[in-house]
Amino acid sequence: MKSDTIVVTGANGQIGTELVSALRAKGHRVIATDLRVSDKNDSFAERDFEVLDVLNKDALSSVFQKYKPAQVYHLAALLSAKAEQNPQLAWDVNMKGLLNILDCSVASQVGKVFYPSTIAVFGSTSPRVNTPQQTVTEPGTIYGISKLAGERWCEYYFNHKGLDVRSVRYPGLVSYKTKAGGGTTDYAVDIFFQALESKKYACYLSEDTTLPMMYMPDAIAGTIQLMEAPLENIKIRSGYNLAAFSFSPEQIATAIQKYLPDFQISYAPDFRQQIAESWPQSIDDSFARNDWGWAPQFSLEQMVKDMLENIAKNETFSNQLSV
Ligand code: NAD
Ligand code: SER
Repeated sequence: MKSDTIVVTGANGQIGTELVSALRAKGHRVIATDLRVSDKNDSFAERDFEVLDVLNKDALSSVFQKYKPAQVYHLAALLSAKAEQNPQLAWDVNMKGLLNILDCSVASQVGKVFYPSTIAVFGSTSPRVNTPQQTVTEPGTIYGISKLAGERWCEYYFNHKGLDVRSVRYPGLVSYKTKAGGGTTDYAVDIFFQALESKKYACYLSEDTTLPMMYMPDAIAGTIQLMEAPLENIKIRSGYNLAAFSFSPEQIATAIQKYLPDFQISYAPDFRQQIAESWPQSIDDSFARNDWGWAPQFSLEQMVKDMLENIAKNETFSNQLSV
């Protein structure tokens, strides 16, 4: 396999932490960038890390000129809940940041760009079950609005400037290495840590709020698979729907109780409930499956076991798991 130089923005986040490691493990030289050096990830500070604000186009251009990346993974963004608390900043980071990346990529002749989109591009007028690839998209959140506009820009840069931009619409991602960064689906990460730490969790979504979710190893594998796919296989230039499974807070709590029978969940819905209710419950990802062979490996049950075992390993809760 050819080894590329790759720039990753927003590299300290939930996805970036694991994506950078996975790309490095494949032999690529990865320049991790973010607003600041991570206090949690020493390995980033030791090698190939640049402090970089994606709103600073001159700084971005300098990084591209210095490293001449063949690929760019543009992860920097404000997620849905954070974005509702600061809509102007979210628009700036999510939109102007992307346009800076696209422009600098064209100027520096970057070979491939990855743009992470989201199920938040759908809104309350989209079909909520098995949401199709192409359907009504009228998002009601500033996050969804910015990501949908971002998808349109990506397709525009492919059609008009020949930039090979590829994108997936991730569902909520569940992981244990880095905590989630301000989204509506964060509960599905926090619940595991709270289950082990205090055996109880107060959920900000109601018990039956079903959302599409995915385990991080599948998200990372799928992202790299998309980026490695032959050019002619990539037929969607907005964002591919990507799915694994769906669950509600009640269902994930029940799955955790199999390992931690004393665990208890309570419900206190807040502003994120309205956001979640405007999103799909399940996703049709047949275009990704047919075009470039997407297939998730982890079921909900396998994810729950793996999450608990790994958190227990790291945080010395191992004697609490009963299965
Ligand atoms: P995160 O919040 O964990 O990380 C985002 C990173 O971006 C942070 O480290 C932050 O410091 C950085 N950042 C913010 N503003 C920046 C700026 N101006 N310049 C440079 N860096 C900046 O997010 P994540 O969960 O890792 O998500 C990564 C991408 O994937 C985002 O674009 C997000 O919209 C998308 N996505 C994530 C999920 C999910 O469930 N995690 C789902 C769908 C889409
Ligand atoms: N997980 C993300 C969020 O909740 C969806 O893009 O914001």
